[in-house]
Amino acid sequence: METVIAGNVQGFKQQAGVLNIQIAHAEAKVFIYSPTIIRVSISKKHADTDGSFAVIRQPLADFDVDESAEFIKINTTALKLRISKSPLRFSFFTADGKPLSEDDARFGTTWQGERVITHRKLYADEKFIGLGEKTGNLNRRGTSYTNWNTDAVDYGPKSDPLYKTFPFFIGLHSGLTYGLFLDNTHKSYFDFGATTDDEMSWFGADGGDLNYYFFGAQGVAKIIEDYTWLTGRMEMPPLWSLGYQQCRWSYMSAKEVLKIAKTFRKKKIPADVVYCDIDYMEGFKIFTWNKKTFADPQGMMDQLKAMNFHLVTIVDPGIKIEEGYHQYDEGIANDYFAKYPDGENYTGYVWPGRCHFPDFFREDVREWWGAAFTSLTDVGVDGFWNDMNEPAAWGQNMPWIVKFGDKYMPEVRNAYGMQMARATYNSTKTILKNKRPFVLTRAAYAGTQRYSAVWTGDNMGTDEHMLLGQRLVNSLGITGMSFTGVDIGGFTSNPTPELMVRWNSLGVYTPMFRNHAIKGSKMREPWEWGAANEQIIKKDIEQRYRLLPYIYSGFYQSALNGLPISRTLAIEFPFEEKVYYERFQNQFMFGDNLLVAPVESDKMNTEVYLLKGDWYRLSTDEKLKGDKIVNVPSPLTDLPVFAKAGAIIPMQNIVQSTTEKGDGILQLHVWNGKEATEFMYYEDDGDSYDYENGAYYKRIIRFDPKHKIVRLLAVEGSFVSRFSKVKIVWHGFETQNKPITSIPFINDVIELKY
Ligand code: GLC
Repeated sequence: METVIAGNVQGFKQQAGVLNIQIAHAEAKVFIYSPTIIRVSISKKHADTDGSFAVIRQPLADFDVDESAEFIKINTTALKLRISKSPLRFSFFTADGKPLSEDDARFGTTWQGERVITHRKLYADEKFIGLGEKTGNLNRRGTSYTNWNTDAVDYGPKSDPLYKTFPFFIGLHSGLTYGLFLDNTHKSYFDFGATTDDEMSWFGADGGDLNYYFFGAQGVAKIIEDYTWLTGRMEMPPLWSLGYQQCRWSYMSAKEVLKIAKTFRKKKIPADVVYCDIDYMEGFKIFTWNKKTFADPQGMMDQLKAMNFHLVTIVDPGIKIEEGYHQYDEGIANDYFAKYPDGENYTGYVWPGRCHFPDFFREDVREWWGAAFTSLTDVGVDGFWNDMNEPAAWGQNMPWIVKFGDKYMPEVRNAYGMQMARATYNSTKTILKNKRPFVLTRAAYAGTQRYSAVWTGDNMGTDEHMLLGQRLVNSLGITGMSFTGVDIGGFTSNPTPELMVRWNSLGVYTPMFRNHAIKGSKMREPWEWGAANEQIIKKDIEQRYRLLPYIYSGFYQSALNGLPISRTLAIEFPFEEKVYYERFQNQFMFGDNLLVAPVESDKMNTEVYLLKGDWYRLSTDEKLKGDKIVNVPSPLTDLPVFAKAGAIIPMQNIVQSTTEKGDGILQLHVWNGKEATEFMYYEDDGDSYDYENGAYYKRIIRFDPKHKIVRLLAVEGSFVSRFSKVKIVWHGFETQNKPITSIPFINDVIELKY
């Protein structure tokens, strides 16, 4: 196979909003999206239409281009792009000329057949973070990855690829940050200097254009903000989906589902959600209910609702081939399924047996699929779990000649799950009128945060998986996915009781808090682990509910600027070496103010790397000096979690579900510190879209140690808070023992002196 190297620039022309560059064997286009976002697309021949599943923004209408003998030059207020002409190479610099990222001087962009790769200079101290759901270390330097959405059942701590594709990473070197998003749904490759003698990194894809967005903002959070500006942000999730979720493959009957829900209430263990996995259906036929075991879905739903439970049901893409089955008949009649080139419907085996697969790349198919959700919403289901959408079929190897829309499988496979989630979200959002649906998907592509939460598929009940899962969650957060979770306890194999307890305590600090297990495994519910463990699990779940006002405010940040709620420490401290040490790389900030140190279930003491500043153990208020490694007790009853000095954390009393009213008192916990801090408190009705029209309640809360005051600034928005009183709980103050009184939570400025 010949290797073609992009040659010299033969000419260039700027038309409104795009710089077109002619090269010996190809062409390149440059667009500017903002002063910190530049797009480069290199192609043998660009298609006439320019589409993206991920990007929701348009480039600027115009920009200036300069030229010298050697370079084509583009400057924004933040970046300099220098395009060398002989040969064609792209180099990005900060506005003051510091190199951010440069093509490898020797190779730049090359083709082998349709496969296109760009080679980049590797800086001596360069680190890489990102790519979403990828195993391995936080720092991806020295490793390589493939994106090819896969039903990765039984994956291990080094498996690759898994279920999702997020071809976006952030590079860190010389005290500088940059981001790069390769918007290409073909099978793609990222090599962060794995086997290049530390000379270069490279990335590319099996086909399509070498189409990337370069982000030059300084600071990881700023790059995430830009990336999610480009690809969209999550909308506010339904509050109930942030409560505890109990799942299993499967609760086999309505009776069992109700028994689970009742037991939560009887034992006073808070919970909001119970799931129906595939066995609620008739022969695994999507949008049906099993007539024997779920004979009266409405009756079941009514009882669940009366107990303040929401139900999430699974839907897979595979449509059973069976005449008389509504979904099958309609799909055939309207030609809605993926096809072979001769027009035959593609058939693969999944749970229902022989199946066809909806072509979610077509709008009419998405609408048809979406409309069928009324079979679930009519009885009151408002959560929709999209599984097996890599797409998965037994044997995994879907033929490459299967066609979706006008494209073959290899070109768009990585976006199939996203299109299914898109169909599910958009239509259930319409069906439920002004209520927020909850959608959960296993497969995803960049931009999926607009439609769905994700979980990390079929993990295992081991300590190693618990820690790996945390890295996956932290890494997904870098790529715009804030609403993420893992199967707590591990999907396959049975966790030890100790691991179950530990993992559940970590689940409190996971954006989506869901316990799930494979068929045939031991039952997993909180009461299955002995009375003493049940009490620990219960206490931890209660802690989740106490923290919900803080967690909800954290999700607001994701909706506002894309910042995830589970944040790798590399977001705030990208150049702090210890953040990347294997023993600390799983640590994360949960929201602005809590540092969480995941630890194995058999370690009763653990080393924690505390970042700069002072910290307080959340459980004891013990004060610890930061900027050092500390050894702390980590019994199963007390996961190491630390509040930052100056932290402001809104909490509430324990409720059994998010529907319960509570005592109406917002508890404002404040930890003493030397520096002034502020927290943005956010609230809305938790289940409608009225917040988009101003029906929210938002106020800045300031801690001002110099003047010894906590000030709640005036309220913004028209929503009336569900709290009528506020109570300050002081931590680490001399006033700590002062009796705590609750005062009215008025909308005007509130000042609390200490
Ligand atoms: C897949 C899913 C798992 C689910 C099972 C049965 O393995 O990843 O979560 O329980 O299918 O539907």
